[in-house]
Amino acid sequence: MRALSRRDQEGAGVRVPPADMTTVGPPAELVKGVAAEHPLPHLPFSALWDAILLDGGQKDRLLAQAVLSFTLRPTVDPSALPLHGLILLTGPPGTGKTSLARGLASRTAEALGARGGFHYLEVEPHALANAGLGRSQQEVRRLLGEVIAERAARGPLVVLLDEVETLAADRAKLSLEANPVDVHRATDAVLAGLDQLAARYPNLLFVATSNFAAAIDSAFLSRADLVAMIPLPGPQTAAAILKDAVAALACAYPAAAGVIEDPDFARAAAACHGLDGRQIRKVVVAACALDKRTALDPGRLTAASLARAAELARRAPGVVVPGGAR
Ligand SMILES: Nc1ncnc2c1ncn2[C@@H]1O[C@H](COP(=O)(O)OP(=O)(O)OP(=O)(O)O)[C@@H](O)[C@H]1O
Ligand SMILES: [Mg+2]
Repeated sequence: MRALSRRDQEGAGVRVPPADMTTVGPPAELVKGVAAEHPLPHLPFSALWDAILLDGGQKDRLLAQAVLSFTLRPTVDPSALPLHGLILLTGPPGTGKTSLARGLASRTAEALGARGGFHYLEVEPHALANAGLGRSQQEVRRLLGEVIAERAARGPLVVLLDEVETLAADRAKLSLEANPVDVHRATDAVLAGLDQLAARYPNLLFVATSNFAAAIDSAFLSRADLVAMIPLPGPQTAAAILKDAVAALACAYPAAAGVIEDPDFARAAAACHGLDGRQIRKVVVAACALDKRTALDPGRLTAASLARAAELARRAPGVVVPGGAR
């Protein structure tokens, strides 16, 4: 059997450290608790930023906040302007938070290009949370106090804390019967670690994501310089995401491009309102899977089948349909 290439692994959703990683040696040597690291800007991350479509000027606002963090923190007294270098993205699943966080890291490095030397590090939260009884606090301390501090000392650094509720669980809501004291202490260690890092490294920015803002410790929330709620796409954005997904299909199957001009496309787009961005992109896949002939030749996709797939997705459990109907 042929060994899986990097491309195969990535396509299969296997997490592999980026090929251009230059500072940490071969992929197998990623430090425990670190999911990925590499220099910035990183083209695939910049592409993620472009692929996420948000209503209004929310992306501009995020980028401005990230850039400001690197502009102000090295120059202004933190007791007067308490910036922690922490941006939190919250919102329902599938709204693009992780993609935005990665894209933001790359675009920030591009915007501050003259400084150069930007680096990206992604924390693997579950590796820390699962470290074992009595160990998560130690693991958090090691990761923040040693690994991240050492990388931040080398130059500008953006750290992704994905699904941060696992790291900074709300201590007020943790019952001691159900949660080992270690979980409480891990949150304490995260807060203490963030404070120390913020004081020592003004060129360090954390971007955290969560779809359970209510489960995050309030002291962590209070440290965030910006808490951005990433909502479900509005009607126009939902239509634009659907269009973008069809255009991606049409790159490989040009005959599918005509779907966008079909009068039924507006019906399909309207049916996507209420779905998250991930679900909207999956509508295109689901529409191709409605019959075997289209599965064999996705160029046969029709706007009517897109509308049908979107209707089916809206009826799926857990989908919030505008107006409350299902
Ligand atoms: N607003 C959006 N515009 C375009 N595509 C989107 C959008 N939101 C999500 N997507 C698509 O859904 C995929 C999943 O997004 P991502 O993993 O970043 O979401 P998430 O908010 O982090 O989800 P979760 O909360 O489940 O971790 C993206 O790769 C993207 O293709
Ligand atoms: Mg995510």
